[in-house]
Amino acid sequence: MSNLEQRLSDHANRLQKAHLNDLFAADQRRVTRHTIKAAGLFADLSKNFIDVDTLALWNEWLEQANVSAALTAQWCGKHVNNSEDRPALHHRLRAPCDDPFIVDGQNISEEIIQARTKMRSLSEAIRQGRWCGYTGEAICDVVHIGIGGSELGPRLLCQAFAHLIDGPKIHFLATPDPRYILDLQQHLNPATTLLIIASKSFSTEETLANANAMRDWLYAHGGEAANKQMIAISANLERTAEFGIDGAHVLPFWDWVGGRFSLWSAIALPFVLQNGYEAYTELLSGAHAMDKHFRGTEANTNLPMQLALLDVWYNHYFAINNRAIITYAHALSPFPAYLQQLDMESLGKRSKANGSPLDKPSGMIIWGGNGTQTQHAFFQLIHQGQRKIPLDFITVKTAPGGMEDAQRILHSHCLAQSEALMRGRHETDLSDLPPEARYPRTSPGNRPSTTIILDDLTPEHLGALIAAYEHKITISALLYGVNAYDQWGVELGKKLTQGTQDSLCGGENQSHDPSTASLIRYLRD
Ligand code: F6P
Repeated sequence: MSNLEQRLSDHANRLQKAHLNDLFAADQRRVTRHTIKAAGLFADLSKNFIDVDTLALWNEWLEQANVSAALTAQWCGKHVNNSEDRPALHHRLRAPCDDPFIVDGQNISEEIIQARTKMRSLSEAIRQGRWCGYTGEAICDVVHIGIGGSELGPRLLCQAFAHLIDGPKIHFLATPDPRYILDLQQHLNPATTLLIIASKSFSTEETLANANAMRDWLYAHGGEAANKQMIAISANLERTAEFGIDGAHVLPFWDWVGGRFSLWSAIALPFVLQNGYEAYTELLSGAHAMDKHFRGTEANTNLPMQLALLDVWYNHYFAINNRAIITYAHALSPFPAYLQQLDMESLGKRSKANGSPLDKPSGMIIWGGNGTQTQHAFFQLIHQGQRKIPLDFITVKTAPGGMEDAQRILHSHCLAQSEALMRGRHETDLSDLPPEARYPRTSPGNRPSTTIILDDLTPEHLGALIAAYEHKITISALLYGVNAYDQWGVELGKKLTQGTQDSLCGGENQSHDPSTASLIRYLRD
């Protein structure tokens, strides 16, 4: 253990023996010190196992992990995704792009502007009814076909701003479940439905199966004339052409954008169709404001850095392996699922960036749901279970017009949960009950949480929130020592799918384990 690790560990042990209530009592400035305002977000981290000494130690930790040099390398386009030999430049997608930015000999600012212009003109033609289906009628429904990073981002954006819809209705098709495909086909009119096929690689099995099924359905009704009702978003122009999509209907994706970081690109097309190009520019500008905060703010008041340090701190020094994300805003309810991919696919690694094995765990289990429903589902375990589970509570300050009372109810629940989790309920609080009835009603408290409040539910503030978590992941990866931008772990399952498919079709594959072989027999016979 290095000297710094020893000091971090000693400090964590001291804090573990304290109660959060006592940390507040000992420090009048605690709330101010651990509250950060950035890009329309207000974040209170004070209900966590940290204090003024933690911040000083964390600064040393960032220095030891060479964070500043690593960020400079990433921002100037070095191949920080070393296992795939690529840069990670998703943040450029939300930059103004006024100046050239050269990556491997290409001016990517120019490419980004061209892509934005194409997305704008395509989306406006569709929204204004100038881009029609095979009968000449305007497009009313859009089926977005994609999975993982090619689906979770646009799904989040579309749900968050569904109340402002002024374009076609968007449906998402990620699962290859035939029941779901049939439901879509039964309810949609092929003459007025547009397909978006979103796949960076254009080789993802589920996406291609779904794209084939939906294309067949379109052609069965409209023949070749329906071809115009397909748009692709992909980096693989050869495959999109093979699939039969006109180059003019393909929006670009680049190697320097990872799937899970791609919602700033043309992958946001469903959101642009639903809410207009202006909403997309607001999303980008909110994320850019968070980028500026991240790059220009010292660590102690830097929101993404503090969120990252907190996670790795809990993981390595408190043996905490999970974090619950609870949204108190129905519009943001897909956010935990979005963050699951962003965080777990980036940080769930067993090797360091240099390829050698890690000696400490990397990544947290991210899970969660929407409050207040989750209070009536799994909060019991968070309050009284034996383990400490840190939570991120996320809510929105302003209420939709005339609904202030309802918003106050929502806020009161959000705040009451974090307060109850921290304060707990002790036998002394229950002295009016008979002694034997007291203990089951106690909660230990001392359960950490962070609360993040968006000033408004706008594309701008959601952009800032997502960018904050993206940067959090970058910093966490540097502290863990892993490459945040590859995902080799998902390869094996994809590879074995070919064998299980062959066997389910009747092939004699001897290489399955006995359990899988028995399941195949049961499904097949
Ligand atoms: O699940 C692995 C993954 O590669 C994700 O990283 C990606 O977002 C998803 O599959 C979809 O990939 P594609 O956009 O190439 O279809």
